[in-house]
Amino acid sequence: MVTGAKGMLGRDLMGILHSAFSKDEVIGWDIEEIDVRKEDDSVSKIAALRPEVVIHLAAYTDVDGCESDQEKAFGVNAEGTRHVALAASKCRAKMIYLSTDYVFDGEKREPYLESDPPHPLNVYGHSKLKGEQYVQEGGGDFVVIRTQWLYGPFGKNFVESILRQAGEKKTLSIVDDQTGSPTYTVDLAKAIRDLIQADARGIFHVANSEICTWYGFGQAILNLSGIHRVKVLPMSSKELGRPAARPSYSVLNCQKLEKETGRTMRPWSDALKDYLSTYHRPSADPMSR
Ligand SMILES: NC(=O)c1ccc[n+]([C@@H]2O[C@H](COP(=O)([O-])OP(=O)(O)OC[C@H]3O[C@@H](n4cnc5c(N)ncnc54)[C@H](OP(=O)(O)O)[C@@H]3O)[C@@H](O)[C@H]2O)c1
Repeated sequence: MVTGAKGMLGRDLMGILHSAFSKDEVIGWDIEEIDVRKEDDSVSKIAALRPEVVIHLAAYTDVDGCESDQEKAFGVNAEGTRHVALAASKCRAKMIYLSTDYVFDGEKREPYLESDPPHPLNVYGHSKLKGEQYVQEGGGDFVVIRTQWLYGPFGKNFVESILRQAGEKKTLSIVDDQTGSPTYTVDLAKAIRDLIQADARGIFHVANSEICTWYGFGQAILNLSGIHRVKVLPMSSKELGRPAARPSYSVLNCQKLEKETGRTMRPWSDALKDYLSTYHRPSADPMSR
């Protein structure tokens, strides 16, 4: 069963799992079915289903919102995860938990390994790390998947935001002092399927390969969409002034995934081309761009 099944990753994951397994073997729930903050309800409903694998995606994912609503951040991301982990252990299911590169502080200057010590800079990162700890303390089989910079067809994301702003403005200023790897939800969903099929256990880093800053990512989105009339300027995180601090470098080393499943994550630019050509075919009229 999948929690957060109607979220950005959840919808793609449900599609990938429905093609890998039979449809009635995969159950997706979102907040309408269970609010993971409610312990008794979550534990009893999941336990009654007796799943073999619980894939826990449900989360409060507004990174800046978490700074001003710590109660919700820890209630959903930490306590909610504890409730789901409790349910998984009751029915001896494997627990798969989606975590984040924001558990790291970005001080390292080479790709983070699964064994590197976490040290979050923001409330979201702290709450997701607490969730990781609950999953590991649960005592059963678990997989923790740390990923980053997600975009896909089913949610608000950076690609959609850049394309929307390009339609409204002549100049875009984008942060150039955070480095990571944009990750396509479809590629991540396939890696999750592979980890299930390989019966993997432990912590895994999963992101598309090769790195960029948000500024480089923004430039690529516009170039690949054939939009050349918008000027892109680099800016610092300080200038942007978001409430939550972000790591300046949060590249994830994904070699453990490759060893375990044989899956090599493709470069982010190839995945982006695929996404844009599937969901944003360039207009036939070049004057309109
Ligand atoms: N997006 C990223 O860049 C990113 C990066 C690293 C890790 N992750 C992790 O990957 C997972 C999936 O992310 P995503 O981007 O697909 O997130 P998302 O689009 O925000 O989806 C999360 C889903 O969980 C639901 N939810 C929220 N609170 C809930 C609750 N109390 N009980 C049950 N369901 C609840 C949300 O419903 P509502 O929409 O109604 O709130 C939403 O459908 C999350 O665990 C996230 O922490 C994401």
